[in-house]
Amino acid sequence: MTTFTLNGRAVSVHSPEDTPLLWAIRDELGLTGTKFGCGIGLCGACTVHVEGRSTRSCITAVSAVAGAKVTTIEGLDPDGKHPLQTAWLELQVPQCGYCQSGQIMQAATLLKDYPNPTDQDINAVMAGSLCRCMTYLRIRKAIKLAAARMQAGGTNG
Ligand code: FES
Ligand code: FES
Repeated sequence: MTTFTLNGRAVSVHSPEDTPLLWAIRDELGLTGTKFGCGIGLCGACTVHVEGRSTRSCITAVSAVAGAKVTTIEGLDPDGKHPLQTAWLELQVPQCGYCQSGQIMQAATLLKDYPNPTDQDINAVMAGSLCRCMTYLRIRKAIKLAAARMQAGGTNG
């Protein structure tokens, strides 16, 4: 059994220790916002935060997060109104939507490291988050909109 904190709540899972965190979250804990894309750490669809850092849950064994704080898209903001989420809606970023949870989770850690990111910062940090619908330009705009609002509101981090 592995115990960790998920979106602020203590949880225990019975999946074998080498089960990818992704499947523990989706199948055992029932939070399906985190997606399976490639399964080998190359697309970003499965991105969650572990201790505040973007982590590919498809290649992270559930045992590796024992005692840690894990956040999924469902827990990024209690009301689903993180500045990234509102910017995403406003600019209608998603197309099919499949990659978008991972994009937002990756973008959230980007803004911790780069509160006022340049195009180069965004390209570098978001490079591993793939979108087959090619929403990259809207993603970049939404990140900049959220960054501006977070700076204005003093809510970075
Ligand atoms: S599903 Fe994890 S990086 Fe692609
Ligand atoms: S919106 Fe379809 S894969 Fe990104």
